[in-house]
Amino acid sequence: MDRDDIDEVIDAFVDAAEYALDAGFEVPEIHAAHGYLLHEFLSPMSNGRDDEYGGDFEGRTKLLREVCEGVREVWPDEKPIFVRISATDWLPDRESWDVAQSARLASELAEIGVDFLDVSSGGIHPDQELPRTGPGYQAQYAETIREVLAEDGQTLSGDTLAAGSDEIAVGTVGGITEATHAEALVGNERADAVLLAREHLRDPYFTLHAGRELDAENAPEWPDQYKRA
Ligand SMILES: Cc1cc2nc3c(=O)[nH]c(=O)nc-3n(C[C@H](O)[C@H](O)[C@H](O)COP(=O)(O)O)c2cc1C
Repeated sequence: MDRDDIDEVIDAFVDAAEYALDAGFEVPEIHAAHGYLLHEFLSPMSNGRDDEYGGDFEGRTKLLREVCEGVREVWPDEKPIFVRISATDWLPDRESWDVAQSARLASELAEIGVDFLDVSSGGIHPDQELPRTGPGYQAQYAETIREVLAEDGQTLSGDTLAAGSDEIAVGTVGGITEATHAEALVGNERADAVLLAREHLRDPYFTLHAGRELDAENAPEWPDQYKRA
């Protein structure tokens, strides 16, 4: 990608955010994980550039930072912006992206006005050494990033997303299927929020069931039409 290609990509992210806003979405999530383009720039495994968008940490993170800055300019201050990252490339035996760099990135994204980091992992290289997967197997990454941010006072101080502030909330995803597990991850301060994918496919009413199971004050209501049943 030459300079023009890079500008085109940044503009495309900004345009996409504007379309999303027009369409009524509340949150854009910028995807910088799982081997997609922005991850390819972040990781020294894939970024072999010798210009200002490669090389050291600042160079490799420059495109993502510029995309986030561009989106923040058009996205309303009171609405949050999420970024998904792969916390580690799972390639410990070679120069690659790791949790320490993710924590440093989180801090810089917080300053740009990103509000929430959705922490996943892997996806850049077929040699990746998969960890033992299972319930909450990626929570360790969110927890470490949170701890580093806490040292700089950049973790969330309240229990709501403070859009546009210098704080950033850190979420975990992966193998979480039970309400009590999700609650424990947040309650034990391993993550500020929990994201679920496949469980919502298995049980589209997961959120309502979880709200009832946890006796949550702000549990969502069943649709009116279902109440008689
Ligand atoms: C069918 C399917 C498609 C997915 N597509 C994407 C995707 O496009 N982008 C992404 O970041 N994650 C994708 N994921 C990963 C999920 O977002 C999530 O991170 C992963 O499934 C782990 O969470 P879970 O155990 O709650 O499902 C996909 C997962 C599934 C099952």
